[in-house]
Amino acid sequence: MYQLDLMQLTPQQFLDEYWQKKPVVIRQGFKDFVDPIDANELAGFAMEEEVQSRLVYKEGGKWQAKFGPFENYDQLGNENWSLVIQALDNFSEEAALLIEPFRFLPHWRLDDLMASFATPGGSVGPHIDNYDVFICQGSGKRRWRVGNNGQHTEFAAHEALLHVKPFEAIIDAELEAGDIIYIPPGFPHEGITLETSLSFSVGFRANSSVSLLSGFADHLIDNELGGQLLKDPKRQVTAHSGEVSNQDYESIKNQLLSLVDDKIFKTFTGNFLTAPKHELDIMLPDEPFESSEVSQLLTTHGIKRLGGLRAFYFEDTISQGICYINGEEVSFDAEIAPAVILLCDNVVVFPESLAAWCEHSAFVNLVVSLLDKGYWYLAEDE
Ligand code: SIN
Ligand code: CO
Repeated sequence: MYQLDLMQLTPQQFLDEYWQKKPVVIRQGFKDFVDPIDANELAGFAMEEEVQSRLVYKEGGKWQAKFGPFENYDQLGNENWSLVIQALDNFSEEAALLIEPFRFLPHWRLDDLMASFATPGGSVGPHIDNYDVFICQGSGKRRWRVGNNGQHTEFAAHEALLHVKPFEAIIDAELEAGDIIYIPPGFPHEGITLETSLSFSVGFRANSSVSLLSGFADHLIDNELGGQLLKDPKRQVTAHSGEVSNQDYESIKNQLLSLVDDKIFKTFTGNFLTAPKHELDIMLPDEPFESSEVSQLLTTHGIKRLGGLRAFYFEDTISQGICYINGEEVSFDAEIAPAVILLCDNVVVFPESLAAWCEHSAFVNLVVSLLDKGYWYLAEDE
């Protein structure tokens, strides 16, 4: 397990001082850091169809980007390129452990764990992200320059690379294994590799209002909801037929707002926040589980959530027996809410915590369906 030291600040002090406010280098955030995965394994992942990866390099002074899967890396040489892998947490349990120390932030804000392997001179270029990111330096060394937020001009250095014009650095630091740099959205930055490097970025994304609204519109259409018409049975005569009165505008606005106030919006939000952003590495069991078997297994085995699978509950509706898993609302007997909280809050739940639940048929049946879907799986023997 990785132990995070936020410059001896408590997580709350860190959030108050830096989160969404300013970038900072956290020296030795992970003491005695050991890469969770090596460069060869990473290169192997980038050869697989379901893994999103890209190579970034310069050719004749021009930025280039190529998307995986890659067949080989023969042409690349020893310098000036980097290989980036998205959602490594979906594919590597070891790498996913790096997310755990950041659980003082709610998991619904998490985007993914991105890994980057870079040779000396390698970089993806100066850019701005819409993410809060903790870039954890693994083996090797990189120099990070970060500019202030504010007005910056972005341009396409390549059709797949949105870069930013040169900026003045407010941070200019060399990172070594175990150092972390935190960068909030909107701060231009550039990491240039000094010594062949591995780095692991724990990224947090907030949805834009437009993506939320367009997702909500899709949800309404898909579920044939929101078809109510505006009603005005108490209409009064108007002297200005060209006018939309303040009162009418309020009714139109309320027509929309009432949808957001409704349970419909909560269901949508739960589905939206748990929808998978990247392909999951689902392995279905050879045959469906039996509840008696699962009841027994829960006394000896932990159960683990599939890497990258999103499972959340709302503070006020969990006790009504509702949670959201992988883009869908899941209903359960409200009695088992405490056990469902364990599943949603933890990547792995051990038999000790489930002793009170392993004979509760509602819980066992829920676990059976989760195991059958490959969303959870049995951990190795204790
Ligand atoms: C990288 O690791 O090369 C890019 C990470 C970032 O700048 O967000
Ligand atoms: Co970035």
